Amino acid sequence: MPFSVVILAAGQGKRMHSDLPKVLQPLGGSTLLEHVVHTAAKLKPEAIYIVYGHGGEHLPNVLKHLPVQWVLQAEQLGTGHAVMQALPPIRDEHDVLVLYGDVPLLRVPTLQALVMGAARGELAILTAKLANPTGYGRILRDAAGEVQGVVEEKDATPEQRRLNEASTGPLAVRASHLRGWLKQVQNHNAQKEYYLPDVIALAVKAGVLASAIVADSEEEVTGVNDRRQLAAAERVLRRRMAETLLQHGVTLRDPERIDVRGELECGRDVVIDINCIFEGAVKLGHRVRIGPNVVIRDCEIGDDTQVFANSVLDGAQIGVRVCIGPFARIRPESQLADETHVGNFVEVKKSRLGRGSKANHLSYLGDAEVGREVNIGAGTITCNYDGVNKHRTVIGDGAFIGSNTSLVAPVTVGPGATIGAGSVITKEAPADALSVARAEQQTVAGWKRPKKTS
Ligand code: UD1
Ligand code: CA
Repeated sequence: MPFSVVILAAGQGKRMHSDLPKVLQPLGGSTLLEHVVHTAAKLKPEAIYIVYGHGGEHLPNVLKHLPVQWVLQAEQLGTGHAVMQALPPIRDEHDVLVLYGDVPLLRVPTLQALVMGAARGELAILTAKLANPTGYGRILRDAAGEVQGVVEEKDATPEQRRLNEASTGPLAVRASHLRGWLKQVQNHNAQKEYYLPDVIALAVKAGVLASAIVADSEEEVTGVNDRRQLAAAERVLRRRMAETLLQHGVTLRDPERIDVRGELECGRDVVIDINCIFEGAVKLGHRVRIGPNVVIRDCEIGDDTQVFANSVLDGAQIGVRVCIGPFARIRPESQLADETHVGNFVEVKKSRLGRGSKANHLSYLGDAEVGREVNIGAGTITCNYDGVNKHRTVIGDGAFIGSNTSLVAPVTVGPGATIGAGSVITKEAPADALSVARAEQQTVAGWKRPKKTS
């Protein structure tokens, strides 16, 4: 049966105490809502509708890359009212899977089970037995164990609050049924809202089976209403990522101390030390070793490369058998060819280092084109910025740049050139020659060290 997905995202999320609409809160490198959309899209529905609201007018703009239809719920009158806003374009004979934008960790098989329930003509709901169900609606069952309805915590009697089977939000059912029942839902409750879970009792009254899929893990169904729950969801996601990496043969020195906020692809026998953060799309080749406290965003790193402790790499293309760090910073649009070395306190920005070139200590290479087998001495700086514009430095193959050289761009150092230490190079340094640009050393005759006067 064709089905559409409706995701509720109009609530403001008061309990977050944030200026950001709740569904835009970050989780694992994207937003709560993106996680839900991403999972829903894997089911290949006809369409995904997102109900957004007053507090989040800019939602469709911020998330315009998502393959979804946006539906405005101008006033937040409750989850039942929200679903109603999305139903008009959905055909009666189609099924509808409703998801909550603040329940981000659901897995595909769980959602498939709901969709299958709807295909059988049932109202399929997702429940969970929670050690602490505070804040959730509770599932009401009859003596025979059949689901009868949901009572929201704020409307529940003390006895009902002791029930530990929670309504987790998502449900799936035929569109025609949902349309009919939602028209009958009233707002006579503690929050004066039209509750979506009220359709469950209406289904039972109409003789439609309300079938409960009981989630087998509590973490999967966690709703994110406050910062504490957001942090808990982040932890769950982190563990899931670590688990996947371990299954693929990656060595994690401590699976509890790695954060993958995006996609991390690893070759064979990769080793990752503790406290590393991976963001965006990161690809590590075979046998890559990443030291502790390394942050890598949007990089591709070749086989056998080593990144030592406390290095930060962003938007770089890195070859094979490269050594980086400790304490190196590689910034966007940089390319480090095979067997290059970038050592401690070296910053590389929008620069290319040819095969086998080395900048081992205390340097800044910005907007530079460095050939092969070049040695950049300690403390060398490309002066790439004149206060207004950026300029390029070009260094030929096999050049040797003495320590503490300032290369004032635009400037070229020819292949095989040698630059004397401490030089300020403002003109082309010819190939295969020594260029020195500093005052000659003098000894000043008769000079006396000053003495203290009082
Ligand atoms: C809801 C359920 C509760 C369930 C819990 C699970 C209702 C009435 N209650 O409670 O049974 O245990 O989720 O996490 O559904 N929203 C709108 N428009 C509105 C109101 C809400 O789009 O007018 C959206 C919110 O953005 C949110 C979702 O619906 O993504 C749920 O709303 P929320 O206020 O968080 O409901 P809960 O109190 O958590
Ligand atoms: Ca919620």
